[in-house]
Amino acid sequence: MANPIVVGADGSPSAAAAVEWAADEAVRKELPLKVVHAVYHLPYVGATYVVPGLEDALTRAGRRFLEEAERLAWARHPDMDTSVALLDGPPGRVLAAQSAQASELVVGGRGRGGFVGMLLGSVSAHVAGHAAAPVVVVRPDYTPMRAEVVVGIDGSAECEPALGYAFEQARLLGCPLRAVYGWQLPSEISSGWFVRDSEDVQRMRDRLVMGALATWRATYPDVPADVKVIHDHPVTALVEASRDAALLVVGSRGRGAVGSAVLGSVSRGVLHHARCPVAVVRHPPAADTTTPAVH
Ligand SMILES: Nc1ncnc2c1ncn2[C@@H]1O[C@H](COP(=O)(O)OP(=O)(O)OP(=O)(O)O)[C@@H](O)[C@H]1O
Ligand SMILES: [Mg+2]
Repeated sequence: MANPIVVGADGSPSAAAAVEWAADEAVRKELPLKVVHAVYHLPYVGATYVVPGLEDALTRAGRRFLEEAERLAWARHPDMDTSVALLDGPPGRVLAAQSAQASELVVGGRGRGGFVGMLLGSVSAHVAGHAAAPVVVVRPDYTPMRAEVVVGIDGSAECEPALGYAFEQARLLGCPLRAVYGWQLPSEISSGWFVRDSEDVQRMRDRLVMGALATWRATYPDVPADVKVIHDHPVTALVEASRDAALLVVGSRGRGAVGSAVLGSVSRGVLHHARCPVAVVRHPPAADTTTPAVH
């Protein structure tokens, strides 16, 4: 049987938005929806003081979050195939483990915890870097629209799975795809040293990024696709493009990622600042061919 769309629910407004997004996605892809809540007892069980009844209260709250989430999904799609799971362990690890048997993992940008000004919770940040399946991070304050699917590219092999995922989403949503390549010179040499964007340089770059789309265009001839090359920091370019987007898709790492980073700085930046849901699509580890940094 096909793997479900898995969504993490913790009773927060962000998680409610994630459940609704995940329910729509499950229907679009004709997959079941699985709602997961992780109860992490250990920090309290191991504490030097014991709060009477806390374990039961956590479990009861978890069950309530799952019921509420299931009701939200059914309110959108009354006949949809859903299941729930109350699991024990740290939420980030539980959800990342679930992703091994998921088509996609969906979470909110924030949860019930954390301090007020934080833009991305620790669970979302963990799963975006560690899940085996694509991770979609949804915020409660976005306006659903179908204008376009935006995908960030940098010409590296790491973009390929993100491009494939983005084309498929554009097909399912019935909207065009826009690939965005943001680039700028290193800050050390950017002033006056170089003709920033002569027509020749621009043409060369356009050819390079158009080439990156060629195979996917052949696979998805009905999806209108174009490339926008923007002279700016990639995070700025992608966040700007996300204002009119139904979904912003990025790879988990790009050309510049240091070997040990599970998530590149551009992916991290857009997860914090994008105006629409963000999908992070991992490159399979076996074929990880990150270009080493040149010094
Ligand atoms: N216990 C949990 N079980 C299932 N999913 C969870 C759980 N906790 C968080 N999530 C998922 O992760 C999303 C982000 O929550 P996260 O916990 O990362 O943010 P936070 O609570 O604001 O900050 P933090 O917990 O890091 O202090 C939630 O919207 C939800 O989808
Ligand atoms: Mg939390």
